[in-house]
Amino acid sequence: MNAPSFRAPRGTFDLVSPRGEAMLAVRDALAAPLRSAGYGYVETPSFEETALFARGVGESTDIVTKEMYSFTTRGGDDVTLRPEGTAPVLRAVLENNLHRGALPLKLWYSGSYYRYERPQKGRYRHFSQVGAEVVGTEDPASDAELIVLAVDGYRALGLTGVRVLVNTIGSNESRPAYRAALQEYLRGLDLDEETARRVEINPLRVLDDKRPEIQKSLAEAPLITDFLGPSDRAHHDTVRALLTAAGVEFEDDPRLVRGLDYYTRTLFEFVHDGLGSQSAVGGGGRYDGLAEVIGGPSLPGVGFGLGADRTLLAMEAEGLPLPGRTGVDVFAVPLGAEAASWAFALVTSLRREGVAADLATGGRGLKGAMKAADRSGAKYAVVVGERDLDEGVAQVKDLATGEQQAVSVNGLVTHLKRLV
Ligand code: HAM
Repeated sequence: MNAPSFRAPRGTFDLVSPRGEAMLAVRDALAAPLRSAGYGYVETPSFEETALFARGVGESTDIVTKEMYSFTTRGGDDVTLRPEGTAPVLRAVLENNLHRGALPLKLWYSGSYYRYERPQKGRYRHFSQVGAEVVGTEDPASDAELIVLAVDGYRALGLTGVRVLVNTIGSNESRPAYRAALQEYLRGLDLDEETARRVEINPLRVLDDKRPEIQKSLAEAPLITDFLGPSDRAHHDTVRALLTAAGVEFEDDPRLVRGLDYYTRTLFEFVHDGLGSQSAVGGGGRYDGLAEVIGGPSLPGVGFGLGADRTLLAMEAEGLPLPGRTGVDVFAVPLGAEAASWAFALVTSLRREGVAADLATGGRGLKGAMKAADRSGAKYAVVVGERDLDEGVAQVKDLATGEQQAVSVNGLVTHLKRLV
């Protein structure tokens, strides 16, 4: 056999059953707490004007400088496959004037995102997020609510190893003084040229440098928590108090910074220790200045993005069974042409009654059809031949025990519905 000529592009993969169903179930489970908290669903295009991300995410971020799939269209427009969802959702809010209605707006979304990253386990060039944004309020209750809803999503999937890291990077009230103090400290270190440049442009990002030698030299670096002004501190304390009241365990991580420039005040990340270096299964924070940066009015906001791919990997790391249903409950095995049309009608009725059902097709013999029944995952097979139909019955076989029973075709749908 020849090798296939085409493969999925590097850093991407296909989801085939049963992992396909598992991914659907993960997304559903992460979205369910948001839906039950009244968040409305929003869907934006997979690509946007490049400038939206350059400005929104930040010109000096890794995402914008190295990881965007950007191209010029045939019409001459510069567009980029979305690397994240917050800037697009805020663009949609402004464009549709949603912010002129009742606030806060609570929105959720789910979709594909694209980053030209170096592929490794848990880090892909095409990945999937379930996200949420609360726009139009500075209330710390929204920050806490989002963290609780994310934790509830992970819990619903059975995950027990997700840790919640919380920090604040302050607003304009606290950050300039902290930035200056951090810069002063970092300038005193012996750093390579690129890192030294980063100290001047975005010193907070240096805290996120994963190299052990850098981490070591950061041990004595000043902490934002020592620079918080009264209102940033009050905001942070309220978020933490609400989490505690909600029974959500979290860790204060004064060194937590995130790779997007729009954050102010609250930052949080959900990490799983079973994943190796790509341990963040989700993250988010407050972005009170983003709307203005992309040309809108002053409009505070807070949100998160949960990585569905990594959430599924975390479930596997914990040894949890793959979520999501595959297969059917009932499988019909017709013997002969007349039985085949009868079976077709039967599975149609079952499906319409909400019973997952399938049938053997292609005029397969009993042996092949029974194999297909086993593979279908069905609990019951309905075996029917011409003689059964003449007698007005079908044979219902319990595929686990092998027990078989003749059931009148008239009450068959009701009978099967009761069984499954
Ligand atoms: P982010 O931290 O860049 O935040 O991404 C959120 C999550 O998406 C990560 O924690 C991770 O689980 C997943 N993720 C990111 N990149 C990859 C990748 N290359 N492969 C697999 N999974 C990945 C944001 O995107 C912000 N928009 C979150 C946010 C919403 N902040 C406020 N609102």
